[in-house]
Amino acid sequence: MTHGRTLADAFPVLGLRVTAGPVELRGIDDDTLLELAELAAQGVHTFDAMPFLMPWTLAPADRFHRQYLQYHWGVRSRFGSEAWSLDLAVRHEGELVGTQGVATHDFLLTRSGETGSWLGLRHQGKGIGTLMRQTMCALLFDHLGFERVESAAWVDNAASNAVSRKVGYRPNGIVRKPRPLPASSGEPGRAAALEQRYLLEPADLVRGPDLQVEGVDALRGLIGLPVG
Ligand SMILES: CC(C)(COP(=O)(O)OP(=O)(O)OC[C@H]1O[C@@H](n2cnc3c(N)ncnc32)[C@H](O)[C@@H]1OP(=O)(O)O)[C@@H](O)C(=O)NCCC(=O)NCCS
Repeated sequence: MTHGRTLADAFPVLGLRVTAGPVELRGIDDDTLLELAELAAQGVHTFDAMPFLMPWTLAPADRFHRQYLQYHWGVRSRFGSEAWSLDLAVRHEGELVGTQGVATHDFLLTRSGETGSWLGLRHQGKGIGTLMRQTMCALLFDHLGFERVESAAWVDNAASNAVSRKVGYRPNGIVRKPRPLPASSGEPGRAAALEQRYLLEPADLVRGPDLQVEGVDALRGLIGLPVG
């Protein structure tokens, strides 16, 4: 008995849909989650690179899809007023290409969050990463009450650093962190590396195409903002 409620009524992240020119960002249902796992399993970066803080792309093939699903189910299950992450599936001209997310804690006090993203290897280097980040930041500032957006990338991640700068983020310090070793090292482990941090404020956002949004009011209610 569902009393006529849809999944998106119960969990409004699933009802969010944002389009801007050729890109669409949308809440991730389970079928899309499995498609994203398959896209990621086909490659997100080369063998000798490690763009992430957590080495999720190095999971063995026999567990890759399950671990990807379980990670996202965990993110959904922990969505609450003290901390939440909004991960959205990205389509480009209708084709699923990757994800764009933001993570925040104590949002109603901080009005800040940190963006993170990936694209399947064959979709990289075509401007999609720039478009999806512009779209996400416009959504956060114009519709979801954000006042600051941060991001970070290892200093040698040329594409991610370039996207942050192109979208208007300003450098905001360099920190030293443990970084997972790439697959090419042949062993699990971590080594110290430098992470460039970035800060974007609304006036600095370099905007892309105008946004069309659906499902924003319900999402505003979910994160504790006034609706209407
Ligand atoms: C980071 C990522 C999302 C960027 O998306 P993208 O679509 O590849 O980036 P774009 O095509 O929009 O490129 C943006 C800028 O970066 C530059 N760039 C892209 N790849 C580059 C590279 N390997 N070296 C130098 N510059 C690069 C482009 O030239 C472009 O600048 P320009 O328009 O002035 O020429 C994507 O590359 C990716 O998923 N990488 C692997 C995962 C990852 O690193 N995630 C982020 C973790 S912090």
